[in-house]
Amino acid sequence: MDLKRTFKDLDFFDVELYKYKVVEKINFLSIEEREEILKKANYNLFNIPSKYITIDLLTDSGTNTISDLQLSNMMLYDESYAGASSYERFLQAAKNFCNKEFIFPVHQGRAAEKILAEILTKPGDIIISNTHFDTGFAIYKHFKANPINIPTPYYKDEKYNFKGNIDLEKLEEMLSKENVSHVVMTITNNALGGQPVDLENLKQAYRITKKYNKIFVIDGCRIAENAILYKKITNSNKTIKEIIHEYTNFCDIFYMSTKKDGIAHMGGFIATNDELLIPKIRQLVILYEGFPTYGGLSGKDMELIAKGLEEALDEDYLNYRIKQVRFLGDLLKDMGIPIIEPVGGHAVFVNASEFIKHLKPEDYLGQSLVIELYRLGGIRSVEVGYLMYSKDAIMNLVRLAIPRRTYTYKHLEYVAYIFSLIKENINNLKPYRIIEADELVPHFTAKLEPVY
Ligand SMILES: Cc1ncc(COP(=O)(O)O)c(C=O)c1O
Repeated sequence: MDLKRTFKDLDFFDVELYKYKVVEKINFLSIEEREEILKKANYNLFNIPSKYITIDLLTDSGTNTISDLQLSNMMLYDESYAGASSYERFLQAAKNFCNKEFIFPVHQGRAAEKILAEILTKPGDIIISNTHFDTGFAIYKHFKANPINIPTPYYKDEKYNFKGNIDLEKLEEMLSKENVSHVVMTITNNALGGQPVDLENLKQAYRITKKYNKIFVIDGCRIAENAILYKKITNSNKTIKEIIHEYTNFCDIFYMSTKKDGIAHMGGFIATNDELLIPKIRQLVILYEGFPTYGGLSGKDMELIAKGLEEALDEDYLNYRIKQVRFLGDLLKDMGIPIIEPVGGHAVFVNASEFIKHLKPEDYLGQSLVIELYRLGGIRSVEVGYLMYSKDAIMNLVRLAIPRRTYTYKHLEYVAYIFSLIKENINNLKPYRIIEADELVPHFTAKLEPVY
């Protein structure tokens, strides 16, 4: 073998940054077995037991592989109801990460969203965002408020680096005319492709929001990934922590699901320096989550998160992370699969409408691709489009989310190989219809069937 050729242009992060210490066997089933499983699951991949999945790219949320140090720190756990030492370590790590004084642990991101929706909104209020993620979107609707997305007009422009930005003109217009309760910046912008938000855009959005005396919130569950992308795009020589703090300086409330950049399996927190908001948040944390020194988390979770938040600031880790995501994006692109470019921080988004020309969004074309990826290769992905958002869908995408530190480059090559098989027979992809689904979160619960 010509090793020189194999490793041509080798870059430091082209080699796995981690070595195995504990392993889990994955299963390869036959196509016939998977067809049966799909039928039983009503063609909804959320209904498939993970033992039947070969490569699980459903989400990067809570699917992270923990480090040896996280595991050993977990043994320091203190499960005291009040004032646990695990809470103290969690508190220090969260403060260090986001540079806010008051931190409230919650069991995951949507718990923070529910608490903030209850504190900040009344029925009929508008909540503006660069793009709400599906949980926040559904929660605001549940509270009879109106979540509205105003992404940058350049969000489809391949040459634009900060496609996660918010439309500043529309923001000002809406704040001046409409009944807006608050503004949420999702960093990175998950629903639109895990795209980064520019610090300048954030600062201006913050200033405009404050001009109208409204609360500005950051949903920062992937802010470390945003920071490495920002650092590369702008050639900044600041550290990841410094960059994150520059962002979090411009918000009243920062919240995050630590299932993402916390490199943990569970958890989240709400952070603020606003003393008026503290009693309101604290009261609801006690009602819904638990005493404010654990807020729905075990001491073991808090230990994992504390170390994870520290590891998420490591630039080697972040470089490897975005390199892996880009690797899959490049493989698909080289095969002529339309993807959202540039690829974002945590996932590759396939543009299903461009890939599958013979189906319409109402045929659930994205879901049709999701189903075929499973049928042929046991790969689990998720539709982000007509099934998830119905008529509010901005695009019809299929998200291949990469769990942190979990799969190797070879696994990702396998995913690309399955795409090449699908591409050969793209016109065989079937239209689907919904038989039944819950109103607020249809993609989690929908039962589907092929139209023919
Ligand atoms: C941007 C964003 N916000 C909020 C959430 C909700 O977090 P959780 O799943 O921890 O409830 C998610 C989850 O994927 C997300 O991606």
